[in-house]
Amino acid sequence: MEAPHPQLSDAPSPAVPGETVRLTVNSPEQMRELGRSLAKLLRPGDLVMLNGELGAGKTTLTRGLGEGLDVRGAVTSPTFVIARVHPALGDGPPLVHVDAYRLGGGLDEMEDLDLDVSLPDSVIVVEWGEGKVEELSDDRLHVVIHRATGDTDDDVRQVRLTGIGERWRTADLAALAA
Ligand SMILES: Nc1ncnc2c1ncn2[C@@H]1O[C@H](COP(=O)(O)OP(=O)(O)O)[C@@H](O)[C@H]1O
Ligand SMILES: [Mg+2]
Repeated sequence: MEAPHPQLSDAPSPAVPGETVRLTVNSPEQMRELGRSLAKLLRPGDLVMLNGELGAGKTTLTRGLGEGLDVRGAVTSPTFVIARVHPALGDGPPLVHVDAYRLGGGLDEMEDLDLDVSLPDSVIVVEWGEGKVEELSDDRLHVVIHRATGDTDDDVRQVRLTGIGERWRTADLAALAA
């Protein structure tokens, strides 16, 4: 006999991973383009967590996000600061770019930074935030970037985007693959 169809619930399930989209990105310029496309899906209050080894392309992707969001200041590696605020030039949200590698203490430290910006009104992009900033939001977009080969000269990257929580349940991440 056929198993009963699983019951679908409309109740919010914040921590449940949603749709995963996988992309191949062939150059730094394409990575920026992906950032510009992703920016169109982002709203104030969104948290984007970027993971991937040094030189994977997290900051390059964020540069494209900054361009897409039309924010002030070039996005650079925030290695010497923990977080940098890029104010919006237009009507969109500001971009807060965080390097969690230097954020030893996690969220408390993030709040102590006293950023002159309202986080719920901003798009927050965190490099290497796993285990540190999840508490900022039940809804998160996880982006993992891998070199397709171990070769550091190789420009091909595999990108995996997973929306977590209600916010991303209906977001059209698949549009990024088009
Ligand atoms: N497909 C690609 N996507 C992103 N960066 C790439 C790609 N191919 C080569 N690169 C290079 O890799 C480096 C990525 O650096 P960066 O974005 O600062 O990485 P991370 O922030 O992950 O440490 C840059 O020098 C960039 O030009
Ligand atoms: Mg970086």
